[in-house]
Amino acid sequence: MTTPQALSGKTAIVTGASSGIGRAIAEQFGASGAHVYLASRSQAPMEESKKKIAEAGGEATIVVLDVRDVQQVRELVDGALRDTGRVDILVNNAGLSYPGTIADADPEHWRAMLETNVLGLLAGSQAAIRAMRQCGAEGHIVNISSIAAQRSDSGVYGATKHAVNCISATLRSELEEDSIRVINVMPGAIVTNFARNFDPEFLAGFIKASGVEVELKRGEKLPDEVLEKVQPLMKQLVGSPEDVASAVLYAVTQPICVNIADIVVRPPKQLNL
Ligand SMILES: NC(=O)c1ccc[n+]([C@@H]2O[C@H](COP(=O)([O-])OP(=O)(O)OC[C@H]3O[C@@H](n4cnc5c(N)ncnc54)[C@H](OP(=O)(O)O)[C@@H]3O)[C@@H](O)[C@H]2O)c1
Repeated sequence: MTTPQALSGKTAIVTGASSGIGRAIAEQFGASGAHVYLASRSQAPMEESKKKIAEAGGEATIVVLDVRDVQQVRELVDGALRDTGRVDILVNNAGLSYPGTIADADPEHWRAMLETNVLGLLAGSQAAIRAMRQCGAEGHIVNISSIAAQRSDSGVYGATKHAVNCISATLRSELEEDSIRVINVMPGAIVTNFARNFDPEFLAGFIKASGVEVELKRGEKLPDEVLEKVQPLMKQLVGSPEDVASAVLYAVTQPICVNIADIVVRPPKQLNL
């Protein structure tokens, strides 16, 4: 059990905090007393989370950035260290998927997945290690991977998440002698805007099966009301972002000599991602 203020006095950075899993993690961290740095490319949804965190008595700072730019990621971490004197938790969550065959893919989609899911995570981890060492933190680096990393034929998106698993395990070994633990989280299917680049017809059909009618355009986010309505109706097949956030909060509130190394959070039935 965690106490409501388990993260009091800590600085936590969450990338991809404008939506889905990252937003849920940021809001749970804020409600648990952390000063949360929310980072993504979309300011408006992060302002809403900042308001919620403030209402819960917490503190939040918004940083609009693109994690594909190493310098911007460094400035995010260095800015948190400079302004709060600490970096205790980094959640490398920003990520995206373009499904489809390799034969038919647009190489720019490979670049987006590799740079967001892998390069951004590496840049964040390196900057966080340096900042955590500088302030003597009992730190946690949380990498959001996927159950796609448990299958060998999960496409280019899956390849990026295999890379995340490998990077997490490597960092865990590298940091054995530091007071920094590395947590690798593999969510199953979770109701978020993750499917925004999926085939809209397939997605609309899936949502319709829950009784909710929705018009979809490829690349566009779904209204929160639709996501919140669909999840409880399809809970055997899709989990909620709060499920993942609770697991992350549990892992980062363990004593520093306990490493919750790998976590799989999934609904009862498993969809391939
Ligand atoms: N949902 C699932 O079923 C599922 C399952 C397994 C793993 N995951 C992983 O969970 C993580 C979060 O995804 P989600 O499901 O919560 O999807 P989501 O609702 O689409 O959220 C993705 C987040 O990443 C941010 N992001 C994407 N590209 C970015 C960039 N270049 N720079 C900064 N931020 C960027 C997005 O913000 P902006 O677009 O505003 O920048 C958004 O906040 C991802 O790593 C994903 O691979 C999801």
